[in-house]
Amino acid sequence: MELETLFSPKKIGNVEIKNRIMRSPTFVARASEDGFLTDDYINYYTEVAKGGVGLLTPGTMLIDQAGAGIAKAACLYDDKFIEGHKRFVNSVHENSEAKVASQINHTGNNAGKPGVELVGPSAKWNPAFKKECRELTAAEIEQIIKNFVAGGRRVYESGYDLVELHGAHGFLLSDFVSPFANTRSDDYGGTTEGRCKILVDIYNGLRDITDKNFPILIKLNVQDYLPGGLTFEEGKEIVKILIDTGYDAIELSCGRVSTKFTGGKRYPALTVSSPEEENFFLPFAKELKPLMKDQPIILMGGIRNPITADEILRKNYADFVSMGRPFIHEPDLPNRWKSGDLSPAKCISCNQCFTTQRPGPVYCVVKRKAEERS
Ligand SMILES: Cc1cc2nc3c(=O)[nH]c(=O)nc-3n(C[C@H](O)[C@H](O)[C@H](O)COP(=O)(O)O)c2cc1C
Repeated sequence: MELETLFSPKKIGNVEIKNRIMRSPTFVARASEDGFLTDDYINYYTEVAKGGVGLLTPGTMLIDQAGAGIAKAACLYDDKFIEGHKRFVNSVHENSEAKVASQINHTGNNAGKPGVELVGPSAKWNPAFKKECRELTAAEIEQIIKNFVAGGRRVYESGYDLVELHGAHGFLLSDFVSPFANTRSDDYGGTTEGRCKILVDIYNGLRDITDKNFPILIKLNVQDYLPGGLTFEEGKEIVKILIDTGYDAIELSCGRVSTKFTGGKRYPALTVSSPEEENFFLPFAKELKPLMKDQPIILMGGIRNPITADEILRKNYADFVSMGRPFIHEPDLPNRWKSGDLSPAKCISCNQCFTTQRPGPVYCVVKRKAEERS
């Protein structure tokens, strides 16, 4: 059978995912202004789940009121949000065989919502917002760790199958790991181990309050693409530390969402205009896979062709493939591929969907224009 590996099941921790396709957390601005899940949110993502994805991760979810710097993002910083998440998880489970994960996040120095303070491990000029982020005190960091653990507890109580930490793209946790953003000399900085301490402490806290089989994942920057930033050599050391800590899988990523840091290049979501530009983080996955012990590595970034995706998995370069932008254009992409239509994803990676985040909801501009013409 074609695409045999792509459509074969595999476990993350003890949770079996029915195929190797993950929807990478992709924010679609469908929660209410105050962070509650709306019917529109629940219906939108339930349709994605029905489209055949193995592991659905909705957009990032904010677990700290002081780090809730994305308008219309789902929040989980208080127990009052749990009821809506329970409704959502039930809807996914009742209507599909998809597993569903929550990506928990503190926006740190990436807070675009007016009134939310920019904070980070160290004071740093932010060219995107033209102001400096404030350095967190050690006491504040300890409180943020508690808030991540409480957020993870709410994820668990809501019935999600897995939790993922957002350790990528210039949000708070990735700034701790980055030597560009973290120049602290206390326990939360200095060495590679010090810069990872927040990730180890959150993992240990989550492990203590959830079932020992509840999978804890991380989307992790393994390279910053910045002068003085995280190099891939150090990224590999960080992966080893997190695997030894017990993280159940790593979804690898690189760079920052703000193109103002990186000379206009949006590294986590590069443009893909030819087959050669697809699977743009594959060289990193190939090097990381042997370090992974039993835990899966999830390859994200420019996955567009089911035949090459299947080959990547068959050759054991990665255990899962994860897509973001293609699901905005085609929520039922896995079912299309499974039905035998093997043409690549219709997403042309133009990144115009990013411009629809405010005021939202996010949509594919190319698809909408084509629909309007027909
Ligand atoms: C509109 C939009 C919102 C996104 N939101 C998130 C997010 O909430 N969390 C995250 O980790 N990545 C986010 N991403 C990045 C995607 O998950 C993915 O890593 C990136 O688009 C590259 O994968 P792709 O080539 O399959 O699109 C977002 C991307 C887009 C286009």
